[in-house]
Amino acid sequence: MCGIVGAVAERNITAILVEGLKRLEYRGYDSAGVAVYTNDQKLERLRRPGKVSELELALAEDSLIGRLGIAHTRWATHGAPCERNAHPHFSGDLAVVHNGIIENHDALREQLTALGYVFTSDTDTEVIAHLLNHKLKDLHDLTAALKATVKELHGAYGLAVISGQQPDRLVAARSGSPLVIGLGLGENFLASDQLALRQVTDRFMYLEEGDIAEIRRDSVHIWDVNGQAVERESVQYRDGTEAAEKGEYRHFMLKEIHEQPSVVQRTLEGRLSQNQVLVQAFGPQAAELFAKVRNVQIVACGTSYHAGMVARYWLEELAGIPCQVEVASEFRYRKVVVQPDTLFVTISQSGETADTLAALRNAKELGFLASLAICNVGISSLVRESDLTLLTQAGREIGVASTKAFTTQLVGLLLLTLSLGQVRGTLAKGVEATLVEELRRLPTRLGEALAMDSTVEKIAELFAEKNHTLFLGRGAQFPVAMEGALKLKEISYIHAEAYPAGELKHGPLALVDNDMPVVTVAPNNELLEKLKSNLQEVRARGGELIVFADVKAGMTNGEGTHVVQMPHIHNTLSPILYTIPLQLLSYYVAVLKGTDVDQPRNLAKSVTVE
Ligand code: G6P
Repeated sequence: MCGIVGAVAERNITAILVEGLKRLEYRGYDSAGVAVYTNDQKLERLRRPGKVSELELALAEDSLIGRLGIAHTRWATHGAPCERNAHPHFSGDLAVVHNGIIENHDALREQLTALGYVFTSDTDTEVIAHLLNHKLKDLHDLTAALKATVKELHGAYGLAVISGQQPDRLVAARSGSPLVIGLGLGENFLASDQLALRQVTDRFMYLEEGDIAEIRRDSVHIWDVNGQAVERESVQYRDGTEAAEKGEYRHFMLKEIHEQPSVVQRTLEGRLSQNQVLVQAFGPQAAELFAKVRNVQIVACGTSYHAGMVARYWLEELAGIPCQVEVASEFRYRKVVVQPDTLFVTISQSGETADTLAALRNAKELGFLASLAICNVGISSLVRESDLTLLTQAGREIGVASTKAFTTQLVGLLLLTLSLGQVRGTLAKGVEATLVEELRRLPTRLGEALAMDSTVEKIAELFAEKNHTLFLGRGAQFPVAMEGALKLKEISYIHAEAYPAGELKHGPLALVDNDMPVVTVAPNNELLEKLKSNLQEVRARGGELIVFADVKAGMTNGEGTHVVQMPHIHNTLSPILYTIPLQLLSYYVAVLKGTDVDQPRNLAKSVTVE
């Protein structure tokens, strides 16, 4: 997944393109490039491996000035992240940027090579540039050439194209990768995400699947998947909260960790009555649909998948509803047997994750009762294509390692559990009122956990020289341990594995020695005594223990055992609370190791390719 920006204006657009790319770095950041139709009427480009800041430095030396341009920040799929493979790709006097994957690129490359086109990169994108050039020779119109080209592409694409032959326009196509047009006065823009354009406009037009757009300074024309001219609604945004600023924090990740009390509060707002969850929060048809639900199938990726795993414990234990959870990339390619009256639930921060979207699209053919998206982006594809939605209110998450998105997803999933139980009458007496009360207190509890910041920072020192760690949890804390391990690997590059504590003796115990710290989450629940025995097994092998334990769990520091006392919390909500110290731990370990916390190597925030 990559980020695209384009502009057609009466002023120099290079700085606008670069600023847009910086705001899109969450989509990929291994190389960046810009192509501009310059004021001396030439199509020129500059590309650099590395982050957008490298491109910016290069532009400071070697400026490009023009009123029409496209730019790209890349996350490599085909071809190493080097200058030759960076976008824009040229063919003749046209330039292309692409987000997505062209699956038939090998066949197209062969055909185009036979026609005499010379390839200078290893990317799938370059076939688009040559194919377009080829069509343009016959059709003499860039828009017509793009329409003809996309007919031959298999796969996913968001495309932006400019040509020196028709420098009055920018043309674009969307299939499987998001694109939005930013509408200005006498100037128009294009990007993968409106965030990139908030500096220049607050009016947006979202392209739909299969759309082709011709964008000029003073007009926008769109054709749908059937080639019919269509009008797309334009939307105005006034909310300025998306501004990507770190404020007093050193990294976005730390800022986002500390935002959790307020974003959890926001996610609850308007969704609770005095002692019940308001089922309508899931949409006007929610009550009627929820009454029919007999099973739940959850599908998600990465951190969102871990949220789904926690929800399974809640749905079965509290609402008595059988629940399956699967990673989207597996679900979408598996022959699935769907039980009658199953609600299909997707969880996603971005709402654009390719595997999750594809799983939803497959699910529609499989006879699920209805689909529900728990998502942080209201204008995302996932939300648009689902029957029901619950928006988490985490606000924009910039750090690649997801933090506040996860805890707000958990809140959303607990609201779902209580709603399903309420409508179906399967909750034990008093449970809903108790948990509603506990949810109201949750932001304060999260604040208390965050106050342990400096304690966790000290504990992080134990990990600075280690290469491997184990995370243990039991019950709903097992997925919390998985999430803790994921955070640590993502940003500190330390190998971390999570195990249900009871599985320790079936293999991983063989790895335990004094070079392998073991992190455990130990709320004060019915599994505590069993967990304590598991911890003994670790200590007996010389393993160093770091235990985040309920203040009432009766656990204390000892030789090789570091106990961090956690505020007491209702057992059901403990997965949300215990996530906090694990996020802080991975953050401080990464800071000690000096890694790029907000943009860890090889990863991207939003994975819009398979
Ligand atoms: C990427 C991100 C993860 C995220 C996952 C799913 O791998 O780096 O942080 O959990 O995608 O993304 P989604 O937007 O669907 O939650």
